[in-house]
Amino acid sequence: MTTCRTTGLTVEQQERWPFLYSHLSSDIEIPSLIEVDEQFIIEMDKEISKILKQIGDGKAKSRESLTRHLTGLLQRRFQRNAKVQAFGSSITGLSLGTGDLDLCLSFKKEQPKKVLRKVAGLLREEGMMDIQQIPKAKIPIVKFTDSRSGLDVDISIENRLAIYNSQMLKGYAQDKRVREFILMIKYWASRRGINTAFEGTLSSYAWTLICIQHLQMTNPPVAPNRQKGGKKNLLEINGVSYDISNDSSPFESKNQQTLASLLISFFDRFATRWDWNEMVVSIRNGSPLNAEKKRWTHTGPLPLEVVTGQSKDRMEHVMPIEDPFDHEHDLSRVVKPDGAMTIQEEFMRALHLLSEGKSWKQICTPVMEIDEEPEDFFHDLRTQNTDLLKVRLDEMKSEITHVEEHIQSLVTERQNSKELLDLLRGTLQEKRNVKSNRQSILSELRPLSMKVQELRQTRDGINDRIAIPTKRIHQEMVRMFESLTSEVDVFNTQSLGRERGDFSYFFELQAMYKASIESNEAHQEFIRLRREQNKEYKALKDTNSQEEEVLNRLIEKNPELKGINLHPKTVKEFQHNSNKLQKSINIQYSKKHELKREIGRIEAWIRIATSKGNQRQRKDSKPRENRRQAPAVNINEVRERASSGGSFSLNELDALMAKGGISGIESTQRSSTSNQSERRKSGRKKSVYRVDPRQGRKRGKKQSRK
Ligand code: CTP
Ligand code: MG
Repeated sequence: MTTCRTTGLTVEQQERWPFLYSHLSSDIEIPSLIEVDEQFIIEMDKEISKILKQIGDGKAKSRESLTRHLTGLLQRRFQRNAKVQAFGSSITGLSLGTGDLDLCLSFKKEQPKKVLRKVAGLLREEGMMDIQQIPKAKIPIVKFTDSRSGLDVDISIENRLAIYNSQMLKGYAQDKRVREFILMIKYWASRRGINTAFEGTLSSYAWTLICIQHLQMTNPPVAPNRQKGGKKNLLEINGVSYDISNDSSPFESKNQQTLASLLISFFDRFATRWDWNEMVVSIRNGSPLNAEKKRWTHTGPLPLEVVTGQSKDRMEHVMPIEDPFDHEHDLSRVVKPDGAMTIQEEFMRALHLLSEGKSWKQICTPVMEIDEEPEDFFHDLRTQNTDLLKVRLDEMKSEITHVEEHIQSLVTERQNSKELLDLLRGTLQEKRNVKSNRQSILSELRPLSMKVQELRQTRDGINDRIAIPTKRIHQEMVRMFESLTSEVDVFNTQSLGRERGDFSYFFELQAMYKASIESNEAHQEFIRLRREQNKEYKALKDTNSQEEEVLNRLIEKNPELKGINLHPKTVKEFQHNSNKLQKSINIQYSKKHELKREIGRIEAWIRIATSKGNQRQRKDSKPRENRRQAPAVNINEVRERASSGGSFSLNELDALMAKGGISGIESTQRSSTSNQSERRKSGRKKSVYRVDPRQGRKRGKKQSRK
């Protein structure tokens, strides 16, 4: 059998979504988490507090310095018109240390044209990796990876609402329990592979909103509604007004539930009770909105219908989540049928594992291999001989010197290459200037030549008709005029015919004279323009020698340019080479960083091992249980210091060894309270809740496939 007759899921799909499949294919009841054993909650809380201590934004410093670096770059590129602001988890305090760096680029004055392309070009020059432009999105984005720190970065353009919603999330996360709860759900979603919007699941942001909704709905609420009450604040973007009111006043919750108990109720709520067909997650409302009233009811096929090939239509509002400021934005818009099935599978899986008393760690088992640090920071060093470790340490220190030298030589090579590149660009620019100069001469020469041509034709045309020089015509005119106007000799009068002939001759002379003047003027202008034309020709000739001069001058100053073909293509080749060098530099930097980190770790271990040895030799050493407890230690801070080779106290080292300083750090977790009707009794009840209607449920009654 390959395909299930009831659900239409193939064997592969059944294996991919086993929990969901078992509920869809048979009438298995969904476990209820209403009554959970109290001891289980206590254990789960202990486990969570351990995980929370391990989670630290170890990359916070890298994020900060990368933000500073990019800000400087962008400001230089856009002549201080640019403004760069961080948003998302790096400012909300909701970072697991694995998330991306979200930056918003906005402009104080006018937004430059083709800004995305310019930003991408700049990043390319900086040697960033995997640069991707997304220009057609509502908010254009450039995505890339910083090759030095390995951080994934999103630079979005004019993403103003995100700045404000991040501020609000920061307000919510100010409360320790809220922050830790969100971190745990983000931890679960990230390890189970359901927090990647571009792969068709939900963004971290959407999960954060679902968390807040849950915490607003507990009784009494753990989280407030920060959009009700407080000062009204409107923001207009592209003619649309958004209510970005955010009441940041402190909120004291009367709810005493522990994190574990809140997590259990979260899965209970969203895996079974939440009707995605009727309810819209809305934190600005503080409770779900009615999907029908909001006109966000699910349209299109069910995810199951798409994954089983029954439909290819688009689904809409598959698990509606309203953006707190942009109320028309459903964050489930990105969820694809596969993603919806996987999300529901994960809800079902968590529900089952919790009901079976499995640990939070098991629930959060990563679906993919995660590059995690081992539980014990020094696990591989414990069995090793200290002297041998010291030898290794020396080797690594000399290796780091080599790496540094390599970096230095690469940096110099890149600098030289960049200088040459700038030179090439400059040369091309100078050449271009000469060329544009020539272009402008030519553009002036063209009409000039036409005018000269025109004048020549006018002049020659007249001269062809009138061969007599102007002076002669004038003399003849004077003579005729005098003869025609002299006193009449009554004894010697001309015949009328003769007199008429003289008059018409005189008129003709007049016309000839006018034309001749015109011809003279045309000739004068012709001469003037010819002179001008000659000057322009000379200037044109000069540009050729200028070009040569520019080249000779540059080659004289920079002999490395000799033999290089000064062509835009050559510039590209040099650019490519420079990028390659930058990549090599980045690789060496990471190598150096890793070596430093490892040196720090080995040195720390040698200190611990040596001090232990000394302690063992001391006769008066007290029995362990009588020794003073190590003071509380901020384990994340210590780990960061250890990783960068910094120094720390023995107490801190001890805490490090125990990873989380279980013995030294007093647990601050809340105890679960009597308020919880969720107190657990052994033995699990089965509930009659259905599988989430949206992800897998089949419409109407279950029917067997033929
Ligand atoms: N954002 C948004 N609209 C979305 C997705 C994200 O406005 N559809 C904004 C929010 O301001 C959010 C920020 O982008 O805080 C970052 O989103 P995301 O990376 O999903 O959340 P993070 O909290 O940064 O999670 P991670 O640590 O996994 O990066
Ligand atoms: Mg982010």
